[in-house]
Amino acid sequence: MCLLIHVLCALFSVKGVKVIGHDTTVIYGENATLLCQLTETDESITRIIWMKQTREKPIEERFFAIRPDGKTEHQNGLGDRVQFIGNVAEKNGSIQLLRMRLLDDGIYTCVFNLFPSGAFKTDINATVFARPVVIVKGEAPVTGGFEATLASCVASNAWPAPEVMWRLGDLENSLRTETNHTVHPNGTITVVSYLFGVPFKHLNKKNIQCEVKHNTLTEDLVINYTINIHYPPESVVIIPDSPTNAKEFKCVVDSNPEPTIYTWTRDNKSTLYYKDNKLPVPKLSPDFNGLYICHASNQYGSSAGSLYVNVHTGESIFFIFFL
Ligand SMILES: *[C@@H]1O[C@H](CO)[C@@H](O)[C@H](O)[C@H]1NC(C)=O
Ligand SMILES: *[C@@H]1O[C@H](CO)[C@@H](O)[C@H](O)[C@H]1NC(C)=O
Ligand SMILES: *[C@@H]1O[C@H](CO)[C@@H](O)[C@H](O)[C@H]1NC(C)=O
Ligand SMILES: *[C@@H]1O[C@H](CO)[C@@H](O)[C@H](O)[C@H]1NC(C)=O
Ligand SMILES: *[C@@H]1O[C@H](CO)[C@@H](O)[C@H](O)[C@H]1NC(C)=O
Ligand SMILES: *[C@@H]1O[C@H](CO)[C@@H](O)[C@H](O)[C@H]1NC(C)=O
Ligand SMILES: *[C@@H]1O[C@H](CO)[C@@H](O)[C@H](O)[C@H]1NC(C)=O
Repeated sequence: MCLLIHVLCALFSVKGVKVIGHDTTVIYGENATLLCQLTETDESITRIIWMKQTREKPIEERFFAIRPDGKTEHQNGLGDRVQFIGNVAEKNGSIQLLRMRLLDDGIYTCVFNLFPSGAFKTDINATVFARPVVIVKGEAPVTGGFEATLASCVASNAWPAPEVMWRLGDLENSLRTETNHTVHPNGTITVVSYLFGVPFKHLNKKNIQCEVKHNTLTEDLVINYTINIHYPPESVVIIPDSPTNAKEFKCVVDSNPEPTIYTWTRDNKSTLYYKDNKLPVPKLSPDFNGLYICHASNQYGSSAGSLYVNVHTGESIFFIFFL
């Protein structure tokens, strides 16, 4: 019985020689440690050889060899970026790859050449990620009947491709998105999610979010964005600061952006002293009676609103008519 077990164990120790490797994941620019270990054996190591099959060169090629005395040989271009960090006597064939590029992403094969039984090997996946840089680029379309770009959410220079989407809430059915991918020469990908819609005024100031998911982010990135729709002055209203004892009239305008020019006029007198959207009111008297008009304009157009003032002598009340 004991003998039988011994025979089985001996068989296993020859057949069961294995090379154990560990897959690794790094961020662009970091160093990658490729751990590779040969299990117990009495045979001698004649060479440890490393092969690679990467995004840069998908055909398997040898790039590094370690001799039993620890001396190393470089081939095929990684040069100083490869370092032997293992120990031949301890059957440790580990290496370090410095400053990983996306093009280095791939399968690395660690081969132990043994005498007399030959080569034992294992594959190690080295994955290189690049973190996206995310920005939302706002647009300011002018109200109109044709679809326009409302915003774009850009996740740049990432690997693998990030997932970019808009969270639109109630606007889900009235807006449309389109996603484009661009691959750069260094292997990174830029993903842009465009948001399209007919620029109706009611969309202005609505809050939406761009959400980005990526392997390098522990939680999804959420960026708030406020929709910006431009339109000319629509309603223009003159409002006194008090109904009975006004010191100032204010011109209140619905427009985006805010009016750049305000002009105040009075029907029977041409010049009035005013500052932008504010018209100072002197002590009210019948002299002040008349129709006051505020003209407001931005780059898209202009509009006007008016207020009729009628003060009766001896009374402090005046009457206002919005026309
Ligand atoms: C990568 O390794 C080199 C050489 O060992 C070292 O100088 C550098 O700081 C390491 N870089 C990182 C990001 O750990
Ligand atoms: C092999 O060498 C590397 C680098 O020195 C070390 O991190 C690793 O733990 C070693 N492996 C074993 C099994 O000792
Ligand atoms: C390693 O890469 C190979 C080929 O791309 C793949 O089939 C395998 O699933 C990967 N292994 C791991 C653990 O990711
Ligand atoms: C997305 O890419 C396609 C193909 O390159 C292009 O035709 C289309 O105009 C792009 N879309 C946007 C919104 O840029
Ligand atoms: C990849 O190239 C793009 C330009 O093509 C550059 O902006 C980007 O920084 C590069 N990515 C990395 C991770 O170096
Ligand atoms: C984004 O908006 C939500 C509400 O819409 C708010 O709770 C959150 O704090 C905002 N985040 C940032 C970064 O402003
Ligand atoms: C403008 O002045 C005329 C006379 O000068 C007057 O009859 C008219 O009522 C005034 N208009 C207003 C709106 O006050």
